Amino acid sequence: MMKNITAAITLLISQSLLADTGQRPDVQSVAAGKPLYEQYCLSCHKENGVGEKPIPPLIKEPGYLTAMPLNETSHAWHHGDEQLVATILSGLQRTQRMPAFKGTLTEQQASQIVAYIKSLWSDRIIACQGPKHMSCM
Ligand code: HEC
Repeated sequence: MMKNITAAITLLISQSLLADTGQRPDVQSVAAGKPLYEQYCLSCHKENGVGEKPIPPLIKEPGYLTAMPLNETSHAWHHGDEQLVATILSGLQRTQRMPAFKGTLTEQQASQIVAYIKSLWSDRIIACQGPKHMSCM
């Protein structure tokens, strides 16, 4: 009995930490995520997630990728919330430029940043977020 209750509570807590793919983020998470985005992400992904402009001498370097937009003009919304959180915490295989924030940010903070990023997306894009994007638009 106690075990079941503990399991149920653990599930509830982990679900509340992870934002929901396909749903608008709640205002508290967005408010918590914005300053974190500004501190850790803005330098590359820029104000309102518009992404960086290619820097001519650098784009020729092997492994150098330009930080894409995280607003709805690129494909960040093709990923579910959990995958976005994982990208933030673990970085990307394809480029060293996207840092792994594990040790700097908690899972909850990463999830709040995802909430902020999603606040930049329209309802239509949010409704098509994640694996559904292929059949949705
Ligand atoms: C030093 C520059 C830099 C910083 C700082 C940075 N990123 Fe990135 N990010 C990149 C680059 C470069 C890529 C890969 C671009 C590509 O694959 O073409 C990337 C890719 C991503 C992707 C993958 C998007 C997709 O559509 O696949 C996400 C999500 C992302 N970044 C989120 C963040 C968040 C959130 C932060 C802050 C916690 C952050 N990044 C900080 C450079 C950066």
